[in-house]
Amino acid sequence: MRKKIVAGNWKMNKTFDDAYELVEAIAEKMETLAKPEHEVVICPPFPFLEMCGDMSQESFFAVGAQDVSEHESGAYTGEVSAAMLKSMEMDYCIVGHSERRAYHNESNEAIANKVKQLLANDIRPIFCCGEKLPEREAGTQFDVVEKQISESLFGLSADEFANIVIAYEPVWAIGTGKTATPEQAQEMHHHIRSLIEKKYGHDTADNTTILYGGSCNAKNAKELFANPDVDGGLIGGASLKADDFVTIIESL
Ligand code: 13P
Repeated sequence: MRKKIVAGNWKMNKTFDDAYELVEAIAEKMETLAKPEHEVVICPPFPFLEMCGDMSQESFFAVGAQDVSEHESGAYTGEVSAAMLKSMEMDYCIVGHSERRAYHNESNEAIANKVKQLLANDIRPIFCCGEKLPEREAGTQFDVVEKQISESLFGLSADEFANIVIAYEPVWAIGTGKTATPEQAQEMHHHIRSLIEKKYGHDTADNTTILYGGSCNAKNAKELFANPDVDGGLIGGASLKADDFVTIIESL
């Protein structure tokens, strides 16, 4: 049975005190709604990982980073390695977010390397994929997502792939207030699951958690999560408000 997950991607928001206040508020509200079959992940900026990790010890959420270096270690100023994240007991790490692809020119190959670094350190990658607006308008969204997934993930063995969480995040829906319709989300998630089935077989596909991201909020989460292939969400803006984030968790 695949896990349902709600993950909050804080992106580059909050200072230390605000971050502490937010995670404390989420932890407090979550006490009443933890369900063992659901996983809640908070992905703050690097400087707050330790604080969130400490807070998670007494709560029901896991902690993830937002990015990782594709290199093991060495002279890469400003980079953070998977081994560093592991030494801080991180459970998850987002990779291939469209903002990193766009602003840091991350290629599918570089993302594949990041995935390998994470898996070598027992950290579950939350692999982001999704098409841009002109690609959807041209009707090429399924090919775009297939290329991203096959070039970054399909070099993995079935055992390795079992640790992957996929987040479908159409770029045109991120931070725009324009959400994919539940039908559009279901259609793409189903497509992704069939790609995995073709490559790794039915059981692996059935066990893979596929999240939706892109203007998912307290109002639309329930409708999106009601689809059979939508196993939760990767939440940006709405994860910065404790009440909204907890309502989204309750929508699982
Ligand atoms: P928004 O929820 O702000 O649209 O961001 C989605 C996202 O990019 C999560 O990774």
